[in-house]
Amino acid sequence: MIANANQLTEVERLAKRAERERAARKEAERQLEEKSSQLFESHEQLKHAFAQVRESADRTRAILESMPNGVFVTARDNTILDVNAMACQKFGLTTSSAIGRLLAEFLPFIENLSASKKEELFSSHLPYVSTARTKDNVEIPCEITATRIDADQVVWMVRDISARVEAEMRQRKLEAELQQSQKFESLGTMAGGIAHELNTPIQFVTDNTRFLQKAFTDLVAAVQDLKVCVTPDVAKRVVDKFDLEYLDAEVPQAITQSIDGLERIAEIVLAIKRFSHPASATKEANDLNQIIHTTVLVTKNQWKYVAELNLELAPNLPPIMSNAGELTQVILNLIVNATHAIEDRKYAGKLGKIVISTHAIENGVECRIQDNGSGIEPANLKRIFDLFFTTKTPGRGTGQGLALAHSIICNSHGGNIDVESQLGEGSTFILRLPLDGTGASWQSK
Ligand SMILES: Nc1ncnc2c1ncn2[C@@H]1O[C@H](COP(=O)(O)OP(=O)(O)O)[C@@H](O)[C@H]1O
Ligand SMILES: [Mg+2]
Repeated sequence: MIANANQLTEVERLAKRAERERAARKEAERQLEEKSSQLFESHEQLKHAFAQVRESADRTRAILESMPNGVFVTARDNTILDVNAMACQKFGLTTSSAIGRLLAEFLPFIENLSASKKEELFSSHLPYVSTARTKDNVEIPCEITATRIDADQVVWMVRDISARVEAEMRQRKLEAELQQSQKFESLGTMAGGIAHELNTPIQFVTDNTRFLQKAFTDLVAAVQDLKVCVTPDVAKRVVDKFDLEYLDAEVPQAITQSIDGLERIAEIVLAIKRFSHPASATKEANDLNQIIHTTVLVTKNQWKYVAELNLELAPNLPPIMSNAGELTQVILNLIVNATHAIEDRKYAGKLGKIVISTHAIENGVECRIQDNGSGIEPANLKRIFDLFFTTKTPGRGTGQGLALAHSIICNSHGGNIDVESQLGEGSTFILRLPLDGTGASWQSK
């Protein structure tokens, strides 16, 4: 019985223990479930936060990449930490090739920036204008701003301002052209006025000289007649006293030379009058050969001690719709340049040679101005038409002649201007002008 009772107690104890253990397991399971649901929640929160961070980083990157300016992020020692697409495009880089390089490679000015200037750049946010240099050493005018984003990093914004610089250059060119043409215009007006005033005195001096020529011939005849009225002794005395034989030989020659000189003066005055005809915006039918003749005559003093100038002008050249004043300026500039080039070649005591030729081309005329002067350095060939490009000393050259010629031939007349040159041999400038004064007949072809 006792054994039975003991057996029961043992069973109960075991049952209780099993119950306790079941309860404990349940509690553990509950706690585990709670923990795992907490873990799941934290994981979800973390995932969300991570997505937000990524979204924000993506947005920042997208903003950076969409910037129309080049952006560089640098470390304290100016090594590049990051670049945007525009910086890569402008500087010929890829992100990986840019990172780790020094920014001074691309913005050389920062090497020479004093600490205070650098600080001013960081704090003022004002753009600094300088020249940036691409990977291939092409220089670009730029506006640069720099901002410190923390103690160690700086963001550099680089804006390409070449278009603006070019527009400013064009504006300066236009202004210079205007100034130049105004100068020519006033010079032309003045020369025209002087030529006009000279016309009348030249006329009467010529008339009087012709009268004296005739009068002297009459006087000589009268003296011959009178000679027979006196004795040969008296005649000889008078002839000797006044050296009449000498006068008879020399005076007609002096008068003829004076008349020749006066005719040349009259011709020059006429050329100046033509040369300085008031500048007009309108075009007229002009004979290019005539314009060349006039210009050669009025510039004779420039070239005659330096070169002989030959004209090979096509007869029956068709007239071209043009502004004669402007074309005169072009020919004048080209003759002066040819003269300078011959001076530069320094022929020992010998004259150089300038040849101006014309001939008809389809719907137009061509004029070639050839010299055997110094020629043009190949490197300068594409720059000679740039405004203010000159290889001459100040006073001798201003670098405006060819820019003006280019503008007159190409812009105002729809033609074109070319150059062929051999260094040390000479140069030929080739002008082609359309008959219609606009070049429309050329473009429509
Ligand atoms: N016929 C030529 N021969 C050699 N070089 C020339 C000739 N014409 C022009 N050049 C070159 O082109 C440059 C620009 O000419 P231009 O515009 O007329 O300016 P400038 O004569 O005032 O220098 C000259 O400085 C010279 O170097
Ligand atoms: Mg010149």
